[in-house]
Amino acid sequence: MSDFAEIILEGKSYKMPIVVGTENEKAIDINNLRAESGYITLDSGYKNTGATESAITFLDGEEGILRYRGYPIEQLAEKSSFIEVAYLLIYGALPTQQELDVFTNEIKIHTLVNEDMRKILDGFPSTAHPMGILSALISSLTAFYPESLNPNQSKDEVNLTIIRLMAKLPTIAAWSYKNSIGHPVNYPKNKLDYCSNFLHMMFAYPTEEYELNPVVVSALNKLLILHADHEQNCSTSTVRLVGSANASLYSSVSAGISALWGPLHGGANQAVIEMLEAIKADGGDSKKFIAKAKDKDDPFRLMGFGHRVYKNFDPRATIIKKAADEVLTALGVNDPILDIAKELEEAALTDQYFVDRKLYPNVDFYSGIIYRALGIPTDMFTVMFALGRLPGWIAQWKEMREQKEPIGRPRQVYTGDTERNYVPMNER
Ligand code: MLT
Repeated sequence: MSDFAEIILEGKSYKMPIVVGTENEKAIDINNLRAESGYITLDSGYKNTGATESAITFLDGEEGILRYRGYPIEQLAEKSSFIEVAYLLIYGALPTQQELDVFTNEIKIHTLVNEDMRKILDGFPSTAHPMGILSALISSLTAFYPESLNPNQSKDEVNLTIIRLMAKLPTIAAWSYKNSIGHPVNYPKNKLDYCSNFLHMMFAYPTEEYELNPVVVSALNKLLILHADHEQNCSTSTVRLVGSANASLYSSVSAGISALWGPLHGGANQAVIEMLEAIKADGGDSKKFIAKAKDKDDPFRLMGFGHRVYKNFDPRATIIKKAADEVLTALGVNDPILDIAKELEEAALTDQYFVDRKLYPNVDFYSGIIYRALGIPTDMFTVMFALGRLPGWIAQWKEMREQKEPIGRPRQVYTGDTERNYVPMNER
C-alpha cells in the first residue's frame, strides 16, 4: 500500500501522507492541503472526516464491534462495573483493586454539591426539562470551583476536577428530576455504590427508604457501561471542540450535554417512548404505524431504529435487548407500551422493507424500554444517557488536552453575495 495519496489539482500534483491506525483504519492526512494547494475539503456532517487520533474507543460499524481501550463491551457489560469502566476510559487501564478503591472513595467524598446550587435549582420552574437544568448546573460548577477554569492545572488538580464531576453529576441529575416533580431532593448516601446511590437520590422519599432491587442496580450498571463512550459522536465532538478553546472540563461537558439533548442524538431514547405512547393513544395498532413508516408520503418515522455508524446491528442493542427481557421478567412488568415495542421490534427484524434499509432496533430503542421498566420518567431518559456518557466525555476531553490539540476551527465554502457597495436607505 502506498504511503501517500496523490491529488491532481489544476494540473499540479499534491501528495498527502496516509495514516493507518492500530485497527488498520486508513486516513489521508490533509493537514497541509490548504497551505499547499489553496483547496479545502467539504464533508457536511464530517461523516468522512477524522477529527483526531484517539486511543479510547474503537468501533467498527460494518462488523458491529465496540471496544473501550481494547476491551469488548460484551465482556465489560458482563464482568465489570460502571465505575470500573469509568476508570478504564479515563485513565486507560483496568484498575488494580487498590486503584479502584481509591477512585471509588475519592468520588464518594465529593458527591455533595454546594448548598447554593440548590438556590439555582429552585429558580427553575417544575416544567423545566432536566437536561436543561443539568447543562446549566454542570456549567455552574465553574463558579463553585473557579480553579477548574485554569487551563494549566497540574495533573493532580485536573484529576480533582474530574473526580468532582464524576461525583456530582449523579447528584445534580437526581436533583433535576426531583425539581421537575416538585419533590424535596435526597442527599447522597456514600455507603451505597455509584448506581445504588443514584437510584436512592432519584426515588427515596423523606418518609421512606428506596428499596434497592439487585436486578435494577445490575441493569443500570449495564446500561451506563454500554453508553459510556462511542468515539467521536456529536456530543463528544462538541466536548472536544469546546475544550480545544481551553474551556474548562465543566464548560465542555455542559456543552456536550446540550448536544446530547437533541432528538437525533441522546434525545432519541425519549423520542422512542413518546412514539410508543402516541401509537398506544391512537389505539395501539402497531401494524398501522409500520405501514405509515413504509409510506414515503407519510411523515411518520420509527424512532430507535437504524444507526448512522452501525450498518447491520448495534452491538449495544444486542446486550440491552437481553437485559430488557431479564428486567421485565424479574420485575413482572406488564406494560401495553412494551407490547407495542415488541410488535415493532418483530416487524423491524423480519419485514424485508426494514431489513433492506438496515432499520434494526438500536440502543435507544431498548434503553427507553428498560428505563421505563425501572420507573425512570421519560424526560429523564436522556439524562441517563448523559450519566452513562460522562466518563467518555471526560476521557476524550483529557486526551485532547494531553495531546495538546489546536483549537478546532473548520473552514467553509462561501456561497453568499460577492462584493457589493452599501446602498443608502433612500435608494433601496
Ligand atoms: C452514541 O452512542 O453517541 C450514539 O450512538 C450516536 C453516535 O455514535 O453517533
